[in-house]
Amino acid sequence: MNKKRVFSGIQPSGIIHIGNYFGAITQWVKMQDDFDAIFSIVDLHAITVPQDPKKLKENTYKLTAILLACGIDPKKAPLFIQSRISAHAELTWILNTIATIGELERMTQYKEKIQNSKFKIQNFSSVGLFDYPVLMAADILLYNTDVVPVGEDQKQHVELCRTLAKRFNNRFGQTFKVPQIQLRKEAARIMGLDNPKKKMSKSAESSYNYIALADSPDDIKRKIMKAQTDSGKEIKFDENRQGLYNLLMIYKLFSEKTEDEIEKKFSGRGYGDLKKELAELIIEKLKPIQIKYQKLITDKSHLDSILSSGADKVCPIAQKTLKDVKSKIGLI
Ligand code: AMP
Ligand code: TRP
Repeated sequence: MNKKRVFSGIQPSGIIHIGNYFGAITQWVKMQDDFDAIFSIVDLHAITVPQDPKKLKENTYKLTAILLACGIDPKKAPLFIQSRISAHAELTWILNTIATIGELERMTQYKEKIQNSKFKIQNFSSVGLFDYPVLMAADILLYNTDVVPVGEDQKQHVELCRTLAKRFNNRFGQTFKVPQIQLRKEAARIMGLDNPKKKMSKSAESSYNYIALADSPDDIKRKIMKAQTDSGKEIKFDENRQGLYNLLMIYKLFSEKTEDEIEKKFSGRGYGDLKKELAELIIEKLKPIQIKYQKLITDKSHLDSILSSGADKVCPIAQKTLKDVKSKIGLI
């Protein structure tokens, strides 16, 4: 039986935190067994906002090492850098000719990003940022993707991809597979430690917002001890007590215990105890990942070879789609 094709991407922009880990990476690791999965480090998406070239390069290696340390197995699921396969940029150009300005103007992420001063250089917002969703559609359509696992924030982009695929097929004949969206479960949404009303984010102002996968034991302890809670006493999974709830959710995700078990364990004990044990648990669980990461990150040529072989595996699929597209629209 043929496995269904899954495609997903992650941007090499900055630190990777436990929110990315539970929200994206662990799902990828699970999917690589049941699906014919392809994963991409989407550097062309990253440059739609200003990037420091040296840091971008470093972040690309770091992300590769993190993904491998977390259990992405390049033998099961090719891992490649988007910019290495020029078909992504070429198909983007062609899809640009069938996407409308109105469609792109309606994209929420674009509207939010142009409001955010962090992404502007002297009031500058790039055409690339506007075109980001079309590049994402090209990523997905090049590989005859059946299923696209993404977070809620990317749903609108995958919907646009579906629209563009159908429009192209209507105009030029059956060419693209129209992919399904697979939304990740909301349970895996981790909130900021310093502000549990907003999700944990690498672009947060303070590093007390997140636990990075590469954080040292001391950092982890400090951040967890400082995490915002309320003035209550009893340790219970109560969504209204957002800070406590978030810490308990993190405990649950790392320990794989049930809510009952965790409430029992901490019954009659205080927040201090919970935080201490949570910090220890995170340190213990991240340790094997960190050991693998440290080993991987010092061997760039090994990382290069994994990325190259990933690109070699997927390139023929992308080329075949692109050739078909070109021929359908009359390019010789
Ligand atoms: P980003 O860090 O926004 O580039 O997101 C990378 C991936 O991690 C996306 O698939 C997000 O949906 C996921 N992600 C980011 N932040 C969180 C969070 N706090 N909780 C759960 N998932 C997250
Ligand atoms: N835009 C996605 C994000 O920020 C990353 C991405 C790029 C992607 N291309 C993709 C995700 C194709 C799924 C499929 O999370």
